[in-house]
Amino acid sequence: MSNSVCGGTKTTARPREVPVPAEACRVMTPDDLASAVARLLGDDGKARWLEPSHGDGAFLMALREMRVPARRVWAVDLHTKRHPNDSMAQVSRGVDFLARHWVDPSRFDRIIGNPPYIAIEKLRDPLRQVAANTRDPYGHAIGARANTWYAFMLRCVQLLATGGRMGMVLPASSEYASYASQGRRCLADHFDRVDLFRFAMPPFPDAQDGNIVLIAKGYRRSGKRSSGTLRRSTVKSVDDLLAQSRARKASSRPHCNRPRRLNQNERCVGELAAVRIGAVTGDAKYFLMTESRRRELGLPIRAFRFALTKSKHASRPFVSRKDLQAMRDADDRVLLFRPPDGVLSHDRVDAYLRLPHRYGGCAKRNLKVASRSLWHRTPLPAIPDGFVSGMTSGELMISINKCPGLTATNTLFVIHKLCEFEMLDLAVGILASKARRQIARKRRWYPSGLMKIEPTELSSVRIPWPIRHASRQGYSNACELLQSGSYKEADGLIWDMIGH
Ligand SMILES: C[S@@+](CC[C@H](N)C(=O)[O-])C[C@H]1O[C@@H](n2cnc3c(N)ncnc32)[C@H](O)[C@@H]1O
Repeated sequence: MSNSVCGGTKTTARPREVPVPAEACRVMTPDDLASAVARLLGDDGKARWLEPSHGDGAFLMALREMRVPARRVWAVDLHTKRHPNDSMAQVSRGVDFLARHWVDPSRFDRIIGNPPYIAIEKLRDPLRQVAANTRDPYGHAIGARANTWYAFMLRCVQLLATGGRMGMVLPASSEYASYASQGRRCLADHFDRVDLFRFAMPPFPDAQDGNIVLIAKGYRRSGKRSSGTLRRSTVKSVDDLLAQSRARKASSRPHCNRPRRLNQNERCVGELAAVRIGAVTGDAKYFLMTESRRRELGLPIRAFRFALTKSKHASRPFVSRKDLQAMRDADDRVLLFRPPDGVLSHDRVDAYLRLPHRYGGCAKRNLKVASRSLWHRTPLPAIPDGFVSGMTSGELMISINKCPGLTATNTLFVIHKLCEFEMLDLAVGILASKARRQIARKRRWYPSGLMKIEPTELSSVRIPWPIRHASRQGYSNACELLQSGSYKEADGLIWDMIGH
């Protein structure tokens, strides 16, 4: 290898025009996690390793523990400040890993790391431009709306040798972020085997968001006709990660990424309905308000849409106009400021739109606001058939939408039917004990005591289907019984409604 990284130069001066990395992305990987990822990848005595954003060298230490010599490890970081662990690899600092110029076409047998998780839009140029121009496997630039971890993952795949392995600590969103869909497809198409381990609790101290560990083995540049095996599992801790992966190795039963064969009396939620997060305003303080605030500002009700904004708003089995009126009367924040063209010239609307940020106006520089063609037109999901909170401490229940025009913000998930059936049936199916057990397994616990499930996880839940005798009253009663902890009575009622 002949260039600055691969040629073994110890430290490269940071080119003047390369900005320093944001502090927000300098979260270092705990040693036990780094060591587990390295062990899951394994060394074969001659593999060439790459760590594309080595920071303080948590993964380099893990490789040293595995007795991988420094001459077989290459490491890069944008940060120029040297660290004592730099001696464990051939290190290039002050280098943007995503910029193509630093590396020759030599490939690596193992790529390991915890890339920065920062929205590409938030990077400064030239980092932003370079990251946004990263190509997905199908030749498209990923764009500034993607995240840096995704650019790193794609670039790592490009640098893998045939048969190579990649191990990365990624954000939980990597499993469902829409900008990364092609990358996920590429993993299934280009690797013999992909394991995704979700952490039920964040493995990083103080972190609120979840993580997954991706282990991909057997890279093939040409792709394959049929997808390789992809297995997902939830782990409670780093020890559990190692234990589960040992158990998988020992088991000869093949798992695959196609939905588990369903018996004819069940369906995956995702086959019946799309589960998405609700509307992202970009500045909740400005766009969401209570009735008393609306009156205080003198804004006409025509400038608003009703929106559910809290978990408790989706805690009823049905949400009707009467419920909304009650929430509005109770001064709950259920009004979303989204003036249609017809009211833009209204004096008070015009004044509110022009209000400077420091006096309570919109933070127009916020990413989600700035990226809209009309900054005050929050994009809305199609009218939802139901709402569900992904973050609750109790049982997950669908609140069926009985109110045309009602939407929800991103604290909640919105559910749209993909085919003709009664929403009530899906809602009853999710209450079945079998579905509740799956949901409990898929949920992550957060240090704060909250439990969270992601839309993809909810979509993969198998529910009994068809539901033969669902009734509004039966559903309301079942929800109430579950909420009060009367599981036995609730299950009896739910099974009567399922009817098989
Ligand atoms: C989340 S930290 C991880 C550090 C280390 N891999 C670990 O796990 O402990 C991300 C690292 O990426 C580096 N970084 C950010 N942008 C980069 C870029 N474009 N090229 C190379 N390194 C970058 C940061 O300096 C930081 O050290």
